Amino acid sequence: MFDLSRRTALVTGAGQNIGTGIARTLAARGATVYVNDVLVDRAEAVAESIRVDGGHAVAAPFDVTDSGAVGTAVAGIGPVDVLVNNAGNGGDRSMVLKPFLDLTPDDWRAAIDVNLYGVLNCCHAVLAGMVERGWGRVITISSLAGTMGTRLGVTPYSAGKGGALAFMRSLALENARSGITANSIALGLMDTGSGETTGEIARSIPVGRRGTPADVAALCAYLAADESSWITAQTIHLDGGVSPT
Ligand SMILES: NC(=O)c1ccc[n+]([C@@H]2O[C@H](COP(=O)([O-])OP(=O)(O)OC[C@H]3O[C@@H](n4cnc5c(N)ncnc54)[C@H](O)[C@@H]3O)[C@@H](O)[C@H]2O)c1
Repeated sequence: MFDLSRRTALVTGAGQNIGTGIARTLAARGATVYVNDVLVDRAEAVAESIRVDGGHAVAAPFDVTDSGAVGTAVAGIGPVDVLVNNAGNGGDRSMVLKPFLDLTPDDWRAAIDVNLYGVLNCCHAVLAGMVERGWGRVITISSLAGTMGTRLGVTPYSAGKGGALAFMRSLALENARSGITANSIALGLMDTGSGETTGEIARSIPVGRRGTPADVAALCAYLAADESSWITAQTIHLDGGVSPT
């Protein structure tokens, strides 16, 4: 079950934390994984560690916000069967936490660039090949900030994450007859060293713990597999029960 051995996967922002967990799990299921990160050293280190464990992985460093760089990189990779849009703000505190009134257009442009345009750029680069081959899986890692909202000072991040969710639903419907599924995972409080959600929210997680990269990676393995062909256009909340629907 969930055999990915014939598949090529591109995981963005896979140089640490959640993306690394996803890349490692897809490789363990047999996929050849292209490990993207904007930081070359991180991408190379993760790809090397997967190879050391017997998996197939290649570093693919590029900036997902640069559409030209994305196109060039994907052309070099060749057919991509599984795209995981994971690059975004998260554990390394690259995000500015401030009330909206204290933010500048540069702040919100940076958040929307990576969390929305990064997704569009990568999808645009891989989609034609998926349509041609009649098979594809697109998975976007989002956040409760994009579904429920939050008062933690990340309004532009919410806009980027929410925009990507809306984009993914329409992308899914537009391509549903082409063997392509497109789903999003809205994450709650994660154990990646992030200060994104603390205090009140942490105490309110029904299952009593934060999520881990392994939790996310397991769902990605399912969504990347043949077995998930009837699930598309969904936003799956992976949050320990914080947001029952
Ligand atoms: N950590 C959390 O608590 C949390 C919660 C909800 C959602 N998320 C989402 O999950 C995803 C992963 O989160 P994380 O905590 O592992 O993030 P992280 O910040 O730890 O890692 C993200 C990786 O993406 C890379 N990256 C950043 N910008 C990039 C770009 N423009 N092009 C290519 N790579 C780029 C970074 O170098 C980094 O290695 C993100 O999309 C994040 O928004 C995280």
